Amino acid sequence: MLLLLLLRLVMSRCLHDETQKSVSLLRPPFSQMPTDFRYSTFLPLPGSHDPQPLRIQIYYAGDPRSDEVWDPEGTGIREGSRALAAVRETTQRIQGILAVPPVQGPLLLSRDPAQYCHAVWGDPETPNYHRCSLLNTAYKGERCLGAKMPDAHLRGYALWPEHGLPQLIQPDGPGVQNADYVLYVRVAQTSKCHQEPSIIAYAASCQLDSEDRPLAGTIVYCVQHLTSPSLSHNDIVMATLHELLHALGFSGQLFKKWRDCPSGLWVRENCSRRKQVTRRDKRGQQLLITPAVRHSLAKHLGVLKVSLGVPLEEEGSLSSHWEARLLQGSIMTATFHGARRTRLDPITLAAFKDSGWYQVNDSAAEELLWGQGSGIEFGLLTTCKSDSSDFFCTGNGLGCHYLHLDKGICSSDPMLEGCRIYKPLANGSECWKEENGLPVGAENPHGEIYHSQSRCFLANLTSQLLSEDQTSYPSQIPHLREKELTGHCYLHQCTQKGAYKVQVQGSPWVPCLPGMAIQIPGYHGLLYCPQGRLCQSNEDTSTPPVSHSTQDLLVQLSLGLTGPPGLLLRKKQREELSEIVLQALVNRGGTNRCYFHSPSVTASLVFFVHMWKPPGCQGPSVAMLHRALTLTLQEKPLEVYHGKARFTTEYSKLLATSDHNPSVTHLLLPMGFCLLLLILMGALGTVAFQKRATLRVRPSTPHHHEGHGARV
Ligand SMILES: *[C@@H]1O[C@H](CO)[C@@H](O)[C@H](O)[C@H]1NC(C)=O
Ligand SMILES: *[C@@H]1O[C@H](CO)[C@@H](O)[C@H](O)[C@H]1NC(C)=O
Ligand SMILES: *[C@@H]1O[C@H](CO)[C@@H](O)[C@H](O)[C@H]1NC(C)=O
Ligand SMILES: *[C@@H]1O[C@H](CO)[C@@H](O)[C@H](O)[C@H]1NC(C)=O
Repeated sequence: MLLLLLLRLVMSRCLHDETQKSVSLLRPPFSQMPTDFRYSTFLPLPGSHDPQPLRIQIYYAGDPRSDEVWDPEGTGIREGSRALAAVRETTQRIQGILAVPPVQGPLLLSRDPAQYCHAVWGDPETPNYHRCSLLNTAYKGERCLGAKMPDAHLRGYALWPEHGLPQLIQPDGPGVQNADYVLYVRVAQTSKCHQEPSIIAYAASCQLDSEDRPLAGTIVYCVQHLTSPSLSHNDIVMATLHELLHALGFSGQLFKKWRDCPSGLWVRENCSRRKQVTRRDKRGQQLLITPAVRHSLAKHLGVLKVSLGVPLEEEGSLSSHWEARLLQGSIMTATFHGARRTRLDPITLAAFKDSGWYQVNDSAAEELLWGQGSGIEFGLLTTCKSDSSDFFCTGNGLGCHYLHLDKGICSSDPMLEGCRIYKPLANGSECWKEENGLPVGAENPHGEIYHSQSRCFLANLTSQLLSEDQTSYPSQIPHLREKELTGHCYLHQCTQKGAYKVQVQGSPWVPCLPGMAIQIPGYHGLLYCPQGRLCQSNEDTSTPPVSHSTQDLLVQLSLGLTGPPGLLLRKKQREELSEIVLQALVNRGGTNRCYFHSPSVTASLVFFVHMWKPPGCQGPSVAMLHRALTLTLQEKPLEVYHGKARFTTEYSKLLATSDHNPSVTHLLLPMGFCLLLLILMGALGTVAFQKRATLRVRPSTPHHHEGHGARV
């Protein structure tokens, strides 16, 4: 139940259909004003009809007199500016995507005669037939989805006598300069926001030009989401882009107005209304059947035959979203799962091409991984429940979201109609967020790493033995219980397009062969390397190598020292000794000092040092250096002098220790484990090592002998 609630929080449904239905779409009237020459007599300049980037002018309708409003003195300012920042970024982005033959002169929007006029002349014989004969005294101006439109943006209106010239009530406003579209922005707690608390924003268009291209619309932000820390700026930008694409033409109400412009949209006289834009298939599902979207879907699915149409979500009589089963992750599906999981896909851009209103910049499309190359049967209700595609899952286990940025749980929702996919958990599932990682010092048996370059992998890696078996059968060699494969976070690094390597905590980088399961030195179990999901674009490959945080590749080296019997060292002396031992260790390793951090010597003469390789540190990997040091210290102990006292490391062994209580682990670890480790190391051709490995040197005095584990 909790999970269900949390899942709700990461997705947001779209209300566009409902809102668009509530708005009447105005088209420019046939001239009712004798003074209105702007449209009728304007001669376009030569070449001025060539498409230019779509100019969207933003108008913040934070009108304190409207009914459900923000408080200009209080919190509203911050939310308003957050919304405006997102709108500005989005409209700039749209400028690089859509182009139109520019509107000539200022853009002047229409008034709705049904609003300002109470009655019209009804006799066809009258010269002023159908013109306004009686004004509506309660007329308060025009609104677009609740946003008050300034008179300056609007045509004027007049009262007409039965015969003769009109009485001008309001002249034409100056209009909006440099605009092909006017977008009104509201921030409010409307009743829709209240009814559907997951709604971030909704939008509708309210005016069209003479060729039905949307000219004006409103986006309403539900105020509570603008203060929510769970939405990033990019999330709000993506939600805005989704809503604006509706308001620019991707809408069940506007599909039927799309135009067919065979000679290109700058030869407008050759455009006509499309005969058919949508149809229903045998199952009753609506399909968008215009040529560019069909071609684009066929290309996406990797089929030669052009598809029959692109399915739209079941949303009643009209539908304004792609079917989620087929186009999960597209900007125009009905639920929003956050900016990182959303793409402005080529099929959506193809729809704008098919609208006949826009010229579309194809290179602005983002790759949609969902279903790519999966064939014509992909995403159907009949195929999603069989194991035919790894984009879908069955059961309710834990795995990875298909983009591998998040761990996911196999689940469904109303849009998926019973098909199941790995959906991100609401909390802490992002592998790329360092703050989701385990606290420093916590046990990390699966070796997970949370990092901006970490991704989710299906794996059952474990560095631990099963403790129940050890306690109940202490004499036996412990064995591993088979672990189920689930999603875990590990570092990845692209090596070339489609190729990458992975790193588990404390392990070296291991090449991951897409489609294969690999073993990781130091761990039992397997890690599956996804195919066609990671390192798909060339930019991924050019990212610089990952720099590790301190926790990432931390190995702690401990060395037991033997000194003169009865010697007690003060703190200062121990600090000096730790420097001396470290210098000897660096000399022995033949490497740079930059690998070693915070050396110390305890009162009981154990030398500790952390090993990790910061960026810029030249030399072998920590894993290799650690192995080399381990071997050389086994062969020949270190010998150092502090003052006149001589200290040595006498013999050493490699042991896995737990973080909190090394001595207990020493006692518990039976010989078998070390053998197992050795065999594993041999098999993999590398030395397994743990986050903390102990090179413990025993004092030579015989009475100190304890029943500790095996020597290596
Ligand atoms: C088309 O899109 C690409 C990628 O976003 C962008 O770099 C380019 O400037 C756009 N072209 C135009 C004419 O806006
Ligand atoms: C417009 O359509 C007509 C009739 O189909 C055709 O003759 C003419 O060449 C077209 N114009 C352009 C510019 O394509
Ligand atoms: C997510 O987890 C963090 C820390 O584990 C917690 O502080 C936060 O309240 C959680 N958020 C939700 C929505 O459960
Ligand atoms: C990991 O999973 C594989 C495949 O399911 C299985 O063969 C193997 O025994 C598992 N290993 C561990 C350590 O659980």
